[in-house]
Amino acid sequence: MTTTRAAAARRVTYQLETLWDYDYLPTHEELATLYETAKKNQWNASTAIDWTRPLGTEGPVLNVQMAFLGTDFFPKLTPEEQREVEIRVSAWRLSQFLHGEQGALVVCGQLVNSIPELDAKLYASTQVVDEGRHVEVFERYVKKLHKIYPVDPLLKSLLDEILATNLWELKLLGMQMIVEGLAIAAFNVMRKQTGDPTLGQLLDYVLQDEGRHVNFGYFALRRSIPNMEPAKREYLEDFTFKACDHMYARDERTGFQSVKNVWTEMGWDGDAIWKDTVTHSQTTKSFNSFLFQDNLMPRLQRLGLISERIAPRYRELGLLA
Ligand SMILES: [Fe+2]
Ligand SMILES: [Fe+2]
Repeated sequence: MTTTRAAAARRVTYQLETLWDYDYLPTHEELATLYETAKKNQWNASTAIDWTRPLGTEGPVLNVQMAFLGTDFFPKLTPEEQREVEIRVSAWRLSQFLHGEQGALVVCGQLVNSIPELDAKLYASTQVVDEGRHVEVFERYVKKLHKIYPVDPLLKSLLDEILATNLWELKLLGMQMIVEGLAIAAFNVMRKQTGDPTLGQLLDYVLQDEGRHVNFGYFALRRSIPNMEPAKREYLEDFTFKACDHMYARDERTGFQSVKNVWTEMGWDGDAIWKDTVTHSQTTKSFNSFLFQDNLMPRLQRLGLISERIAPRYRELGLLA
């Protein structure tokens, strides 16, 4: 990457209105409780987590047998190669979490400005602190483990679109529902696959915060979507469909493909292993069904974002019955 391109990739330009709320009237009843919980459940990443333990000694950072169950390539690896895969794949995954958390931090800062109601701004202010802490823990962990991998192009394009829009509703939908829904599914998978107590503890704390963030998005959108003008609603529906289509890893075109960097670093055929994992991996299958069938689709349906216009496209992908 040239220096100019690298500088451009760091910059997102947008125009955003900051709204004051001089009414000081409660608008979101559910947010009052969520705000109280957020204040009560703050934690200090420096003291809540024991950072003195060496990583991966009490249990694997990633149980690779579990993570690559069903694939053809994995059983053929030597124990040394399996250990390398454990460290590198963990570092790649945690790097994407780290970049995603930085995205959540900056988008949430925008929400404090652009969301119209004060009680929603106050809730969002607690999330800014949460996301700052999440950046802190993933950065600390991944640097202790191995190295920070570059942001995945699909993740970056999603985050940049959410940052660049001037619609706060799309920021809420894109970040609080879609990206955080994806993060929760990925954290849950990682939680099941780690035997490392530091990572386990870190993920438990982060997951507790993320549950609130998705609820915030859901409550605020449930209030705004029914009164939305049809063109804006269609725009939100189309964005959501496009994001789901890209995130649903199933072929050479979809999913977070930069994991191939790990395979090529190891001197292997990245494309072949990608194909093997999307076709055979039990983890990929359970991740997709946990994310789409169990969480995202039911929530989008309850919000009214799976209209008759867009539903056939989800059916075509097999994400809707
Ligand atoms: Fe977060
Ligand atoms: Fe979050």
